[in-house]
Amino acid sequence: MLEFIPVILLVITLLYYLFGQRHQRLFPGPGGVPLFGVTFEVDKYRLHLSLYEWSKKYGDIFQFSVFGKSYVSLNSPEVIREVMGQEPSATVTSSRENTFFGNYIVGEDTDIVFASYSKEWAKRRKIACQIMQIYGEGMYSMEKETHILKDTKQYIGENQGRDIDPVFMVESHLLKDLTSLVSGTTDEDLRRHVKEMDDNSNKIALPLFDLTFQMFPFLRFLPFPITKKPFLVIQSIDRMMDSIKKLTTENNIESGIYCELKNAAEKYGCNITDAEVKGIIVNLIGAGSLTLRGTFMSLVHLMAEHPDIQRRIQEETDLVFGGKEVNVKDRKECPFSQAVLLETMRFVTNLPLGGPHFTHDDCIIRGKLVKKGTRILMNLWTINHSDDWGDPFNFRPERFLDESGSLLPATHPTRRRLMPFGYGKRSCLGELFGKNRAFLFLVNLMQTCTISKPTGETLPKFDPRTMMPGVNLQPQPYKVQFKLRKYVS
Ligand code: HEM
Repeated sequence: MLEFIPVILLVITLLYYLFGQRHQRLFPGPGGVPLFGVTFEVDKYRLHLSLYEWSKKYGDIFQFSVFGKSYVSLNSPEVIREVMGQEPSATVTSSRENTFFGNYIVGEDTDIVFASYSKEWAKRRKIACQIMQIYGEGMYSMEKETHILKDTKQYIGENQGRDIDPVFMVESHLLKDLTSLVSGTTDEDLRRHVKEMDDNSNKIALPLFDLTFQMFPFLRFLPFPITKKPFLVIQSIDRMMDSIKKLTTENNIESGIYCELKNAAEKYGCNITDAEVKGIIVNLIGAGSLTLRGTFMSLVHLMAEHPDIQRRIQEETDLVFGGKEVNVKDRKECPFSQAVLLETMRFVTNLPLGGPHFTHDDCIIRGKLVKKGTRILMNLWTINHSDDWGDPFNFRPERFLDESGSLLPATHPTRRRLMPFGYGKRSCLGELFGKNRAFLFLVNLMQTCTISKPTGETLPKFDPRTMMPGVNLQPQPYKVQFKLRKYVS
C-alpha cells in the first residue's frame, strides 16, 4: 500500500498544477512541453548550469515554467539593479513563496528568510541588519576570535604532515564563529545543539521535500521515519534556543544577537517577540553555516592548488601583521589577500541562484506586465561567470587589482559586476560578517601554516562547475597537508 503513496502524490500534484496558474509568455526562453515545462531538459541537481547555458541563448532576461509555475531569470547586474533596486518592482519582487519549512518549522511570518514582504518583515530585517552591521565589523569580542583561532592552530599542529580532510577543522571553526555571533559564547553543548539543528534542517530544506509537505502538511503526523523529520528539526531548534537562553541568563552574557534582540525595545526602540527572536537566530545560523563552510573549504582547496598565491598572501600579511594578532581593521593594508577573497566568492558563487523571490502583486519588468505569483531568480552564477570576465573559469585574483597592486575601488566596473551576495531588499544580511570572518580565517591560516597537496592521493582540480549539487554549492571532498610555519608557537 505504502508504495502507492508517491504515485498518488504525483497524480494529485499534476492535477493541481494542470488546473493551476497559466503560463504567460512575456520574455524569450525555453518552451519545454505542456504542463511539465522544462522539467525534462533541465539539470535538476545543478539548475544554475542549465540557466547559464540558456542565458547565452536568450540574453539577460528569460522565462520558463516547471509544472505550471512561472519563473523569470535575471541574468545581468544591470537588469538586477533595475528590477531589484528601483521601485515599484523592488518591493513587489521582494516576497517569498510560502514554504512548509517557513510556515511549520520556523513559524509563519516570524523570520526574515522565509517570510513574505510585510511591514513587520521590514521591521525585523531592519533591526537584524543594524545588529549584523555592528557585529560584522568585528567590534565584539576579539579575544573570543583569538580563542577560536588558537583551537584551529592546535588542530593543525597535531595533524601536520598527514593527508587530512579539512572538513572537521573548518566546521568546528565556523560553529564557534556562529555560536559566538548569536550567543556571545562558544559553549560546547550549544555547539552540539547548533550542529544538530543545522544537520537536521539541511535534510529537509530540499525543494521536493518542501513541496510535498507544503501540499500535504498532514504528512508530518504520519509515523514513518521520513515524515518524522520535520518534528526532529523543531525539537532541535527548541533545544538550541533553550541552551542559548540558559547560558545567557546563568552567565549574565550581554553580547550576541540573542541579547541584542531581547533588548531591542530599549536599545533600538523596536519590540521583537520571542517567536521572532527564534526565527532570526535560526535564519542566521542556517544562512551562515553552509555559505561559510563552502567558502572556507574552497579557500583551503584553492590554496593547496596555488602555492604561488599562498606565498604572496604570506609575504603581504607577514609585513602587515608579522606574527602579531590579525585584525580585520587592517584588511585595507592587504589588497592581495582581499583580492583572493573577492575572487573566491566570484569563482565559487555558493548560492548560485540566491533565494527565489516571488511577486506579491503584478509589476512591470522591462515594459512587460509580470503577474502576481511569478518566481524571480537572480542568476548570480551567470553574472559571476559571464564572458565579460574574459576567463571566468580561471582563478585569478589579479583581476581585482590595478597595475600598482591596489585593490580596485568598489565603484570600478569589475567590482560592480561581482554579485555573490544578491542585491536589493533581500540582499545578504551577513555580507560584512561573512567577508570579515573569511578574511580572518584565510589570513590566520596563512600566518600559521602552508597548505600543500596530499601525498597519498591526487587533489582534484577545483572546478566550480563540478561542485556538489544543492541549493548551496560545496566543494567535492578532498585531502590536503598542513605544515606549520617556522615562527608559529
Ligand atoms: C560567503 C558567504 C555568503 C554568501 C555568498 C551569501 C550569499 C547570500 C545570497 C546570495 C543571499 C540571497 C539574497 C536573495 O535572496 O535575494 C543571502 C541571503 C541571506 N544571507 Fe547570506 N551569504 C553568505 C553568508 C552569510 C552569513 C555569514 C550570514 C549570517 C550570519 C548570512 C545571512 C543571510 C540572511 C539572513 C539572508 C536572507 C535575507 C532575506 O531574505 O532578506 N549570509 N546570502
